[in-house]
Amino acid sequence: MGISTLKGRSLLSLRDFSAAEITELLEHAADLKTRAAQGEYVHALAGKNIALIFLKPSCRTRVSFVVAATQSGAHPEIFGREDIRFGIKESVRDIARVFGRVFDGVMFRGFEHSTVAEFAEYAGVPVWNGLCDSYHPTQVLADLLTLLENFGSLEGLPLTYVGDGRNNMAITLAIAAAKLGLDLRILAPEKLQPAPEQIAELLADAESDRAKITVTADAQLALAGSAAVYGDVWVSMGEEEQTRERIELLRDLKVTAELMAATGRADSIYLHCLPAFHGQDTETAIAHPDICEVDDEVFEGAQSRVFDQSENRMHTAKALMQLTVAG
Ligand code: CP
Ligand code: NVA
Repeated sequence: MGISTLKGRSLLSLRDFSAAEITELLEHAADLKTRAAQGEYVHALAGKNIALIFLKPSCRTRVSFVVAATQSGAHPEIFGREDIRFGIKESVRDIARVFGRVFDGVMFRGFEHSTVAEFAEYAGVPVWNGLCDSYHPTQVLADLLTLLENFGSLEGLPLTYVGDGRNNMAITLAIAAAKLGLDLRILAPEKLQPAPEQIAELLADAESDRAKITVTADAQLALAGSAAVYGDVWVSMGEEEQTRERIELLRDLKVTAELMAATGRADSIYLHCLPAFHGQDTETAIAHPDICEVDDEVFEGAQSRVFDQSENRMHTAKALMQLTVAG
């Protein structure tokens, strides 16, 4: 294999990589996963240093990037909100230039997309968006690997996202659909549907003529024939003051066994980026007893692949760092 076209590149949104590059990355991740299961680790990043910056909390992104970097031979260093004080003590561009001189790659989780874009511009080393208000590309790489593991190919695959249709997950899945030819249905109440122009722009740029994106509040239409139903929290990080309103808007779209059955497919699976409210007594769930985007029966049931997705965060993060830093 020659040097990848991904060497030296950042991933700020999935739009940054072509369909062929995403496919290459997913194949590399699948290979790394098979090798890791046999105890074989590819030290493509030996001697490298990777920074992980979190301005919002994280479980999966943090554990997957730490282990992926370590198993690739690199040293990961974590920076929290208080360590950095972006835009308070020092400007984003000054911090980015320091990190770019010292680190070989940076994972960045923040708020506005413009911040991670500015960071990447000034860092001059590969920067990976570990979630911002607009996109979550490193999550969707893991979701695509999970879909491939279950269905073998992505072209024409019907996938239904249920929830806030304007959030970082819905839009990143829409980009993936346009790139790779998924038949994505976004099931959301009207107030939470993405702007038609945004979807039209993605489809105008589609790399596959199988790509379809349907935005609807009609559950039957969205679910019929779907291979996978995808959930996310009703309230994304940073939007907590909208919790009450979101519960009212989305309570009828809770994923139940009945809703899963509306796919009409015995082989349909349930996906969720996590964290999820599925009827457990977490502090937030006690404060908002009716916040629950998926029934425990589905979350814990035979169709659920949510922890495969979590594991795949690690394999895809490894492939992403290896290909963009080492080539
Ligand atoms: N799915 C995901 O990004 O999880 P974390 O917020 O825990 O990293
Ligand atoms: N939409 C969610 C995704 C969490 C992984 C959020 O931004 O909080």
